[in-house]
Amino acid sequence: MARKEHLKVAVIGGGSSYTPELVEGLIKRRSELPVKELYLVDVEAGREKLEIVGALARRMVEKAGADIRIYLTLDRTEAIRGADFVTTQLRVGQLDARGRDERIPLKYGCIGQETTGAGGFSKALRTIPVILDICKEMEELAPDAFLLNFTNPAGIVTEAALKYSKIKTIGLCNLPIGLRMQIAEFYGVDASKVHIEMIGINHLNWTTKIVVDGEDVSESFLAKAAGAKGLTMKNISDLEWDGDFLQSLGALPCSYHRYYYMRDDMLAEQMEDLGTDGTRADVVKRVEAELFELYKDPILAIKPPQLEQRGGAYYSEVAVNLMSSIYNNRKDIQTVNVRNNGIIPFLPDDVSVEVNSLIDAEGAHPIQLSRSVGPEIRGLMTLVKAYEELTVEAAVHGDRKKALQALALHPLVGTAELARSMLRDILEQHEAYLPQFRQ
Ligand code: G6P
Repeated sequence: MARKEHLKVAVIGGGSSYTPELVEGLIKRRSELPVKELYLVDVEAGREKLEIVGALARRMVEKAGADIRIYLTLDRTEAIRGADFVTTQLRVGQLDARGRDERIPLKYGCIGQETTGAGGFSKALRTIPVILDICKEMEELAPDAFLLNFTNPAGIVTEAALKYSKIKTIGLCNLPIGLRMQIAEFYGVDASKVHIEMIGINHLNWTTKIVVDGEDVSESFLAKAAGAKGLTMKNISDLEWDGDFLQSLGALPCSYHRYYYMRDDMLAEQMEDLGTDGTRADVVKRVEAELFELYKDPILAIKPPQLEQRGGAYYSEVAVNLMSSIYNNRKDIQTVNVRNNGIIPFLPDDVSVEVNSLIDAEGAHPIQLSRSVGPEIRGLMTLVKAYEELTVEAAVHGDRKKALQALALHPLVGTAELARSMLRDILEQHEAYLPQFRQ
């Protein structure tokens, strides 16, 4: 990246309740990352949220005395033109669509989740075409910019951009930083003292090495993690890991592995919640209503602590840290979603993987893993990645055959009958957002 003293950042999905966290991060790090123009972009359906969030962002910047001009727009091209970084945090169809993603699988007795299983498949189908439209606009208006994708399912969406666009794309997730903070809590140290090595794909990564204050605690931490509370994200039930299982695995599963390794317990909880709190989308709607009431307060000029109720908390730390390391050619190590390029030898080179990467002015470069993994990890990872590859093709081409095979292959769906039924419901209920599937 060329060294400039005036950076422009475009946030697609700028009306998100997470945006104040990103603004906080840009304010805190402005001496090392001179963002002078911040464009918050949304769609007509998100206009009111954009105006509320934009007003708060302006109050935050003014209170901090930061020289960051904030623009609100529904015109994506205005925001993208000449941008240095484009971040995507959009939700096509808003939270109502997420509710449908979560409820359709539950109707058939399957896990209903935002990014994992048939719910993530459904979200990917309507999200990937929009992300590729953004990539096309960037190729024309900001060809040297970086696309930092937070939009879920982040790994699948990032893979689509890597495969179908020339734009420098890096996928982000707050799960790795979240785990480092949790491990730091266990040992009573600052998160900067915790280094982890992950192998896998987004929301399906295994932590195979943990170093705390210079000491390799990979083995002993598995014993600590058995039966422990606190090893999860805010949006995932904190069911404890079984000690024998962790020892047999020889690695720490991520929060989302509960939907696989503890599927029946997680499904039972989801079914029970359906009759009380509803799905996660219903919970988030209530959290969002509370947050936007707070954001409207003309006195508020900081990011409210209530934002940490959301599962994606601390994503700004990830985004701003990454922008700063690219801009400053820092050559530090961050866990991000990148093109595999052989780092995970049993996955294709062109798929997205979530691994430690060296960050410099050219972007993110995956780092050789310090240990290989056996069939106990390779098996599930290979299967879910094959599902992801099929999902990308189904989303890009409106290919029903690939869509059916993707669902039938996913371990949380698994049969032709369920795949056919869920695909029918998904295409019907999201018809407005799936032009690529219209006959
Ligand atoms: C986790 C994941 C994010 C996801 C979030 C959902 O943090 O890493 O990818 O977006 O949870 O949180 P929510 O509050 O929307 O359920």
